Amino acid sequence: MCGIFGYVNFLVDRTRGEIVDNLIEGLQRLEYRGYDSSGIAIDGDQKGSNIIVKTPGKVQVLKQKIIDDKIERSTIFDNHVGIAHTRWATHGQPMIENCHPHRSDPSGEFIVVHNGIITNYRALKTLLLSKGFEFESETDTECIAKLFKHVYDTNLKAGISLDLNELTKQVLYELEGSYGLLVKSVHYPGEVCGTRKGSPLLVGVKTEKKLKVDFVDVEFPDPKQQAQQDAAINHAKHHGSIPEGLLPLASNESNLRTSQSRAFLADDGVPMPVEFFLSSDPASVIQHTKKVLFLEDDDIAHIYDGELHIHRAKKSAGESTTRQIQTLEMELNEIMKGPYNHFMQKEIFEQPDSTFNTMRGRIDFNNDIVTLGGLKAWLPTIRRCRRIIMIACGTSYHSCLATRSIFEELTEIPVSVELASDFLDRKSPVFRDDTCVFVSQSGETADSILALQYCLDRGALTVGIVNSVGSSMSRQTHCGVHINAGPEIGVASTKAYTSQYIALVMFALSLSNDSISKKNRHHEIIQGLQKIPDQIKKVLNLENQIKDLCDATLNDQKSLLLLGRGYQHATALEGALKIKEISYMHSEGVLAGELKHGVLALVDDKLPIIAFATRDSLFPKVMSAIEQVTARDGRPIIICNEGDKTVSDGKAFATLQVPLTVDCLQGLLNVIPLQLMSYWLAVNRGIDVDFPRNLAKSVTVE
Ligand code: F6R
Repeated sequence: MCGIFGYVNFLVDRTRGEIVDNLIEGLQRLEYRGYDSSGIAIDGDQKGSNIIVKTPGKVQVLKQKIIDDKIERSTIFDNHVGIAHTRWATHGQPMIENCHPHRSDPSGEFIVVHNGIITNYRALKTLLLSKGFEFESETDTECIAKLFKHVYDTNLKAGISLDLNELTKQVLYELEGSYGLLVKSVHYPGEVCGTRKGSPLLVGVKTEKKLKVDFVDVEFPDPKQQAQQDAAINHAKHHGSIPEGLLPLASNESNLRTSQSRAFLADDGVPMPVEFFLSSDPASVIQHTKKVLFLEDDDIAHIYDGELHIHRAKKSAGESTTRQIQTLEMELNEIMKGPYNHFMQKEIFEQPDSTFNTMRGRIDFNNDIVTLGGLKAWLPTIRRCRRIIMIACGTSYHSCLATRSIFEELTEIPVSVELASDFLDRKSPVFRDDTCVFVSQSGETADSILALQYCLDRGALTVGIVNSVGSSMSRQTHCGVHINAGPEIGVASTKAYTSQYIALVMFALSLSNDSISKKNRHHEIIQGLQKIPDQIKKVLNLENQIKDLCDATLNDQKSLLLLGRGYQHATALEGALKIKEISYMHSEGVLAGELKHGVLALVDDKLPIIAFATRDSLFPKVMSAIEQVTARDGRPIIICNEGDKTVSDGKAFATLQVPLTVDCLQGLLNVIPLQLMSYWLAVNRGIDVDFPRNLAKSVTVE
């Protein structure tokens, strides 16, 4: 959660107004990551001075505050560093003191924006208080800003003047937890350092000139200095305290910079005009440049004099020594709302295209063959595995539940489905011959990333089913599939669900491509998949009927029950999650077979109930659950197949009729009326659909 954004121009004239606009626009594109408060830090008029503007509330409020504060807009800078932040509160309420950026001291020698959680901040705070620092906020981030000043001053006293990268490295040695962070300082005008661990960060590069090379050599820490710092950490761990001066800066030698770091931008040695954008998400840099470098954990990006240098905070064995500049394939219009009122609405209506894109180029519909390039080489190993464990959170977890049964049927491998947090809480046993499949839209969800690390540590094969290209999960898994749904910005996941679902079905199909006994089932599913995008279009036509139903019976309700069985149990859970997170109406997805074991007590003539009774082998059983409801005066709204007279002529209060498809794909169509219903319930209740309270799109904290 939280979004960070930075902007640096070099030899490119920009007015302060343009710089501020860049920062505000960047924040607006990151707002889905948190919208409790926002702030920016820019250079002041005097060299080495800073202006910080921050406020609780959304970025729009910050924009207004910048106008109200009459920040001079016409000053021109040809080298300037601005950093910005939009916050989802973790430590401390969303009040002005807790808004980012945070400063080391009232004169703002060091200014930091941070996404993540510093787990040892209490110990750091105690130490810094003892050194005379006065804290202004309740946040963990403020410790980082103050730590920068403390380490800087300590070195200076010892006669050592560190460059910003070395200073950052020393500060990072003291931090535990997760971070994506940017730091600017009056002592390093025109420079910025950005670093990450467990939270995403990338650097976008914009220049009129052609890049001479599109990679950056990574500079590793000086081994002697690293040994000293490791000793300091060990000392701190064993003695329960951080040694005086924080780090043993024994000699000036530790200040020597190794020389192999190569700045990729100095074309023929002549400095060239360039702009850099640092961000938590490529969606916020796409309007400026498509050239981006995704940082790895423990990378430090140091930008100065128009050059980008990548250093490592820590060296570990077998690391790659280069970072590649990639060209994003995303287009600006993909992250704009277009004619829709909300991103969620746009994304619901994009599903005919997004599901098509998930399958594009991967399914040979004439020969019933599925080819997933990112998995091909690994299929023999996966086929031999002892079991498959699918691990995810929230909606992504529901996509695993929805496909588990077809996975087991096609592959004949036992599949378990795990919520990442619970999987870790239980310290679930994982073995070398397990295949662990991680499903995530963002590829950055902290619980899932920690579970991934847990499985990697135990030697399991890991597969990522991810939407965000370049995300931590897509880089850290052994192999995987990008679901190609396009950027999902609405906080409530919609198109990612249907694309994850299809990607998992394709994964199961590709694992069993060669099975003769499954040939007919393959044919049926693949032909079914081909029709899905058009069938989704038909379901989307139910929008007006769903709006009317909300107006007539649902808008004022407090609670809603969803009943499903077999493949539709996941649909009931996903529908209930959509409704509660967007409309704040309590809703519960119930396995229809469990109704009689307790839930039936809730049923009366008032409680709205939605039942999934599309045609599959469990249809008779679902109908008997519906009978139990109507026998207690319940008035079910039934999602059934088009023209199903058994249902529509029965005791349904209303029906929503969807096309028939293969049993294991029916959930792709059945979930859409629930997405639309949650959307319209929220709109009718006056809720800002893309910014539901207390939530953020990418949950990068545990
Ligand atoms: C619900 C929703 C969340 C996410 C969950 C996992 O609409 O969006 O439940 O599904 O936070 O996020 P990812 O898929 O990014 O790992």
